[in-house]
Amino acid sequence: MPAQGESGNGRVTINEVGLRDGLQNHPRRLGVAEKLELYRALRISGLHSFELTSFVSPKAVPAMADAAELVAALPPEEGVNLTALVPNRRGYARAREAGMRGIAVVLAATETLNQRNIGMSLDRAREECAAVLRQAAADGVFARAYVAAACACPYEGPTSPDTVIALAEEMLAAGADEVAIADTIGAGNPRQVATLFRSAVARCGAGCLSAHFHDTRALGVTLSWVALQEGIRKFDASIGGLGGCPFAPGASGNLATEDLVFMLEESGYRTQVDLPALMAAASLAGRLLGGQVGGRITPWYESRHRSRNIESNGTNQGQARGGD
Ligand code: COA
Ligand code: ZN
Repeated sequence: MPAQGESGNGRVTINEVGLRDGLQNHPRRLGVAEKLELYRALRISGLHSFELTSFVSPKAVPAMADAAELVAALPPEEGVNLTALVPNRRGYARAREAGMRGIAVVLAATETLNQRNIGMSLDRAREECAAVLRQAAADGVFARAYVAAACACPYEGPTSPDTVIALAEEMLAAGADEVAIADTIGAGNPRQVATLFRSAVARCGAGCLSAHFHDTRALGVTLSWVALQEGIRKFDASIGGLGGCPFAPGASGNLATEDLVFMLEESGYRTQVDLPALMAAASLAGRLLGGQVGGRITPWYESRHRSRNIESNGTNQGQARGGD
């Protein structure tokens, strides 16, 4: 099927954020070996861009206290883009010391969310993020900047698109290679997201933008489609729909990687991700975390596999989960 999209370029990059956004607030804490096992399963699916961890205060986010250990345990590999979230210069120094060659700073579009998330005023957060980005540019380190609460803030309500885009421009000017426009609490609606991304693309260009959606109100896939139509070709997603920011009330699960991959591939875009292998990674995440994990596609996918097993074996004793 020919690729869709205004640019005629049907290739879409998915940045898997489950190991950071997905695990940072989960009640079950994974060890380094378990995180590695999940990373390997995700790599097998073909994913090659990851936000791996964060170098933040272990008191603020205990689940990420093992960041340096995790980076040290990774198999060395060419062609995989790895970033780690850093909230300040201290985090940047720790990430570099651990050997990271990619980082992400996080700037919320509102005063209160910056205070709650990273203990800084908006102005101080802008300065701190810009300082990290300048350093990263000087060091030849790939850097992305989140502009969080891009549709609404859990404390201050709806966010103005002009504010979001002005912050995106500021981060790009400071040296960011990419800005991730993040609907941190999944508060956006399709019309609003279309307006936001249309203006952002007009002012910054689609090439240096990516989209980060949460599926709080079941609109994650829809909002991705809307951003796609505005020219966005890079998306964050989290395996099994895991996720949520501990400092942004209402931030439930991220958009599930499997839902995004399915929607894109069904529509003729190319993700280089193998859906059965991705479903196997989601099953693994469920086993490791001991709970219900999976995107909205999961019940359909599993029932389709069950009926195929019945057809081929004449039994329903086959695999219940695809790709396991
Ligand atoms: N990594 C590890 N420790 C750090 C750190 C970093 N990047 N930056 C600061 N710290 C330590 C300080 O040394 C201090 O330690 P101490 O209590 O043992 O003296 C402690 O963290 C507090 O630092 P301080 O500078 O007083 O600031 P704070 O208490 O306002 O915390 C942050 C600021 C940014 C460190 C903290 O809010 C944070 O880590 N936030 C991350 C939030 C997050 O990950 N959100 C989800 C992703 S968007
Ligand atoms: Zn998020």
